[in-house]
Amino acid sequence: MFDWQQFWDKQAKHKEELRQVARTLNNQLITEQQLAEHVQFMVDCLGLNGKQLLLDVCCGNGTFTRLLAAHAKKTIGLDFSEKLIEHARLKSSDLLFEQANAMKLFEWPHYESYFKRVDAVTICFSFQYFDTVEKGFMVISQLIPLLKHGGHILLTDVPDRSKFFNYYNTIPHVISLIKQMATGHNLMGKFWAEDELDFICNENGLSGRKISQPPHFPYAHYRMDYLITKP
Ligand SMILES: C[S@@+](CC[C@H](N)C(=O)[O-])C[C@H]1O[C@@H](n2cnc3c(N)ncnc32)[C@H](O)[C@@H]1O
Repeated sequence: MFDWQQFWDKQAKHKEELRQVARTLNNQLITEQQLAEHVQFMVDCLGLNGKQLLLDVCCGNGTFTRLLAAHAKKTIGLDFSEKLIEHARLKSSDLLFEQANAMKLFEWPHYESYFKRVDAVTICFSFQYFDTVEKGFMVISQLIPLLKHGGHILLTDVPDRSKFFNYYNTIPHVISLIKQMATGHNLMGKFWAEDELDFICNENGLSGRKISQPPHFPYAHYRMDYLITKP
């Protein structure tokens, strides 16, 4: 089986902060303005106003975490890549970054101490790596005990099944898809369907809704957001 943890540890060797977390489009880094606009969009979706406890799961090197933290009271970043967590800690020594696997969140030593304390969880540009409904279910269901009632989970930049062919629309992309299908190793991860995310929410007693990104966002042509609320 492909070792994603090793993949992200290697990715952390890149010099550019945005390349370490694959925040590129056609091999170009996304711009500071695009980053800032996306963070503001997330802040608005979650209603962050400086009073919340925010958990950024799959935080990578903390690029988004740091910008989101300016809108929360306390922010914690979790990621299973030791190397990316090291970068995150170096760049934002005032925030708490810890190594944890989102699929085994219950193994995070502080898991139980945050029960019912978290106002908002973000999973940015990462939900595709939970590449079956079972894995996605496992991640979401382990986050529920942490959330306060009324708390939110924002899945942002999720590959959108309804836009699959907006991504696989060039010969190189289609060739890479065929190679990935043949080797069983899909770098892009799962293109989620809205009804699969609705199913996970319904089974867990949560409400959820798809949110379309503003069309000028760098990945809006093939990605979506999904906002989950604990009643
Ligand atoms: C594309 S990067 C996104 C990083 C950051 N959230 C962002 O938006 O810039 C994907 C991140 O997901 C993390 N990741 C993937 N699977 C994970 C898992 N099971 N548990 C924790 N982190 C995971 C990787 O280590 C990597 O940092």
